[in-house]
Amino acid sequence: MDTELAAVNPESIQKAAGLLRRGQVVAIPTETVYGLAASALNQAAVEKIFAAKGRPQDNPLIVHISSLEMLPQAAREFPPQAERLAKAFWPGPLTMVLPRAPGLAPAVCAGLDTVGVRMPVHPAALAVIEAAGVPLAAPSANLSGSPSPTTARHVLADMQGRISLILDGGNSRVGVESTIISLVGKPCILRPGFITQEQIAEVLGQPVALAQAVTAPLQAGQQPVSPGMKYQHYAPKAEITLLAGNLQQFAEYVAAHKEPGVWALCFEGEPAMLPVPAITYGKQDDDPTQAAALFTALRRLDEQGAKKVFARMPRRQGVGLAVYNRLLRAAGFRIVEL
Ligand code: TXA
Ligand code: MG
Repeated sequence: MDTELAAVNPESIQKAAGLLRRGQVVAIPTETVYGLAASALNQAAVEKIFAAKGRPQDNPLIVHISSLEMLPQAAREFPPQAERLAKAFWPGPLTMVLPRAPGLAPAVCAGLDTVGVRMPVHPAALAVIEAAGVPLAAPSANLSGSPSPTTARHVLADMQGRISLILDGGNSRVGVESTIISLVGKPCILRPGFITQEQIAEVLGQPVALAQAVTAPLQAGQQPVSPGMKYQHYAPKAEITLLAGNLQQFAEYVAAHKEPGVWALCFEGEPAMLPVPAITYGKQDDDPTQAAALFTALRRLDEQGAKKVFARMPRRQGVGLAVYNRLLRAAGFRIVEL
């Protein structure tokens, strides 16, 4: 199959919508990361997403809507807390786990009675959903296990020959996947993102729990609250280790472990201070710049042939928690306290 890369314009949006209505898979830009979309109401179409990604069958997909009128096609209940969060953060990078609607293709929810729903804010994503006229199931458009794509080029690198169309809508502004909050039972954040725990708590007027698996590996036999938690994710080919300490300690540790194939993943302005080649991911203490740069940096390290990577530690609050969560998984939970 030939894979076309098309700039976003009215024509390419209509083309994408036509393919989606006919049960095909199309990669679309969103503000978080690129998504691999198919009609959420069409089982055969959704199965094509799993095949293109090589995704485990038990890992459910997020359903994307373009308006609240579309919500009943995805979720059968819209509790008051969800309504409040939607008012505050939709369209935007927040996914809510709600009781699923009966018309969804079974593969979307991977056997669960719940569904993750989100209304993206990227104008091209909204336009494609609107033109297709159906909710779109869309996981991140990477091969299962590799870093999420934040440019159309990243998608092409993973999906060439596997899908027929990629819409190029530029760099994903946020750069990490949406915050996921479960509203089935007590509100609980299953995956941190650009919408923070603090912001959500403020809108709900109550503290919001953070699933343990956000910052700790699952214990043997433990049932994940979100199936995606059990997979390593975002794994570049290089072995990554997070180093917790200041820049000087970091530089000393890296110098002591210097060998061919060792790289640093650090903040802007720091490479000149380090004894090994380095790739940067944003500015220190500026979490949104780190989120926007992280996945591109992970892909670059692989392109450079990095074997071992020592990474600077992000903050663990605010958007930094999302960055930390992704890096921790990329590192297979390897941290060294300096
Ligand atoms: O920002 C995003 O959310 C991007 C863009 C494309 O919208 N999508 C994305 O999808 O990150 P994906 O498939 O890479 O991640 C979806 C995560 C998985 O970890 C999955 O286990 C979880 O959402 N998930 C989906 N439905 C769920 C449900 N009903 N209950 C709990 N977790 C769910
Ligand atoms: Mg993903």
